[in-house]
Amino acid sequence: MPLRKDRTINQQLHSIVESDNPESSPVNQSTLKILGPSCLQGNINIGGAKNSALPAMAATLLSSGVCRLRQVPCLADINIMGQVLSALGAKIKHNTNTFTLDIDASIINNSEAPYELVRQLRASFFAIGPILARLGVARIPLPGGCAIGARPVDLHVKGLQALGAEVHIEHGMVNAYISSSKKKLRGAKIYLDYPSVGATETLMMAATLAEGETIIENAAQEPEVEDLANLCIAMGANIFGAGTKTIVISGVPKLHSVDYTIIPDRIEAGTFLIAGAITNSDISISPVVPKHLSAVISKLQSVGVKIIQETSDSLHILPSKILKSTDIETQPYPGFPTDMQAPFMALLSICSGSSYITETVFENRMRHVSELNRMGANIRVKGNNAIVQGVPKLSAAPVIGSDLRASAALILAALAAEGETIFQGLQHLNRGYEQLEVKLQKLGAKLQRVDLVEENDISQDSI
Ligand code: UD1
Repeated sequence: MPLRKDRTINQQLHSIVESDNPESSPVNQSTLKILGPSCLQGNINIGGAKNSALPAMAATLLSSGVCRLRQVPCLADINIMGQVLSALGAKIKHNTNTFTLDIDASIINNSEAPYELVRQLRASFFAIGPILARLGVARIPLPGGCAIGARPVDLHVKGLQALGAEVHIEHGMVNAYISSSKKKLRGAKIYLDYPSVGATETLMMAATLAEGETIIENAAQEPEVEDLANLCIAMGANIFGAGTKTIVISGVPKLHSVDYTIIPDRIEAGTFLIAGAITNSDISISPVVPKHLSAVISKLQSVGVKIIQETSDSLHILPSKILKSTDIETQPYPGFPTDMQAPFMALLSICSGSSYITETVFENRMRHVSELNRMGANIRVKGNNAIVQGVPKLSAAPVIGSDLRASAALILAALAAEGETIFQGLQHLNRGYEQLEVKLQKLGAKLQRVDLVEENDISQDSI
């Protein structure tokens, strides 16, 4: 089933979330100039997981108290989710120096999320569960497709119907309401046809306030689902089995406020491990939960990279001159994450021999291939399969990122490539990598942000 079209590229984001740091504005018209090849060295601090923080923000709607989330990264997606919650009536304060996000959801006076925001951030659709459970009614626009696939929400909708909600989709709007006089969802047994992360999260949140017991079978087992469950448990929910295929939720009458710390971002961590591998460098990353990175670590070891677990929450990657091919198939967790497919492909492009990559989660997640090939990679794509024939080295070129992880892949390739790569697509990177350029500079990478308008002016001058 898995496998959607293009999302607006230049998202002009104007924050209504109170921020302590004016520089955190995600509005961006810049390019990155990256001079390779780089040799990196040092320690990198991994931020809180974007994909945990987003549903966690939605979950705070389940409580009428003030919730504090810690380790919330400063990212464009977090900003948009903040705007969605604000539009519903919540008061939000993101302290971008301490990475704490305070959400006061005592007054939720609107059940409809604005289309302009939902279409920019698919994860904001996940708020349908908490809004419905809290207000008995929720109106959320269909998020539509994006650069990596069609991304329907049928599993969310079917699950909410199983929990007793009436759901009608009209004019691009998902209208959900609870018709019973008590305005309560009722527990149900739900089998997900596919272990969708978002559907598992929507339904788990909705079921926390339902009457009776809900069992979600074939649930997503991603660490972010478990983190969301732990947050809800800390708010007073009864949830068992999150992180396994079967999640059991016994509804409670209400949830209370919470002070909760988000887990480290395993995708950011994996990206830095690949940065070390692709540049043959010696770097350490922390904090991480090594178990969350098992599949990525295992594949890095297959290509010949040495990774040492230095402490319970840190990893050290050592330089290794010989890199060899390996095959990858993306799978739901604990399989190899689809979000690491593009970054790993950048690495495989310089591993000796042929690597075979199969994307099984999204239908349109190979758009980085043509850009990697512009940098000298030798990759052929057929459908959702790619054959990567390793080349001795990559060469810098002007490249454009089509989505978040594709952009990360191109930055990684640029670190290894000879010459100056000019990368366009910072608006994608800002969605999911906090201060990537600053972190890479700290490791010794030579990269610089350049204003696009100035660049255009220069090229016009030179014509
Ligand atoms: C989440 C992550 C995303 C990651 C993905 C898979 C967040 C905010 N985003 O996205 O970074 O790449 O998990 O690990 O957590 N599907 C349906 N019907 C549905 C729902 C999903 O067909 O109702 C399909 C999707 O089109 C896709 C597949 O299931 O092909 C997996 O999607 P899903 O696990 O839901 O991903 P998200 O939660 O959107």
